[in-house]
Amino acid sequence: MLRKISLFMLFTIVWSYQKFQMLIPNGDAVPNPCAGQSGIWGGVGHNVAAGGGLNNQFGLDFNSSGKVWTPEFCQKDSDQDGKSNGFELGDADCKWTPGGTPEGIATGHPGVCEPMNSSKCQQVNKNITCSPSNYT
Ligand SMILES: *[C@@H]1O[C@H](CO)[C@@H](O)[C@H](O)[C@H]1NC(C)=O
Ligand SMILES: *[C@@H]1O[C@H](CO)[C@@H](O)[C@H](O)[C@H]1NC(C)=O
Ligand SMILES: *[C@@H]1O[C@H](CO)[C@@H](O)[C@H](O)[C@H]1NC(C)=O
Repeated sequence: MLRKISLFMLFTIVWSYQKFQMLIPNGDAVPNPCAGQSGIWGGVGHNVAAGGGLNNQFGLDFNSSGKVWTPEFCQKDSDQDGKSNGFELGDADCKWTPGGTPEGIATGHPGVCEPMNSSKCQQVNKNITCSPSNYT
């Protein structure tokens, strides 16, 4: 029973972040910035790669923009690392619309300040958790 419930919860989490991935450029291809980890950070708006739980600043800003990739949200630097959300997600010119092909690939994580453990990032990344790792 417990197992069924947690499988259901996992499914729900994965389903909800996959739905949101399609609303931002390269949402399903954001690299995991944690040291020694490869693969994708599926829950882009969350503090853990697998999604669920609290939002990171990018997730909060996504919610504030009405879950729409607006020019303002694209130009914002949610994680305060000096690179705009659009730049990190491969849409530096903020031209992408849902269903379209972004002009570039995602080069960074818009909700995790990078380089991750640099002094400018300590506060922003306070709630970012590098483990457990991503599922993919
Ligand atoms: C940053 O520090 C945390 C905690 O020590 C560690 O888990 C993580 O892998 C580090 N990330 C990088 C990119 O060095
Ligand atoms: C998302 O935004 C709505 C208003 O648009 C607000 O009521 C809600 O608390 C926000 N959720 C989070 C997690 O910030
Ligand atoms: C970290 O999480 C706490 C709630 O547990 C929240 O109040 C705080 O604003 C968060 N800080 C950052 C930088 O995300």
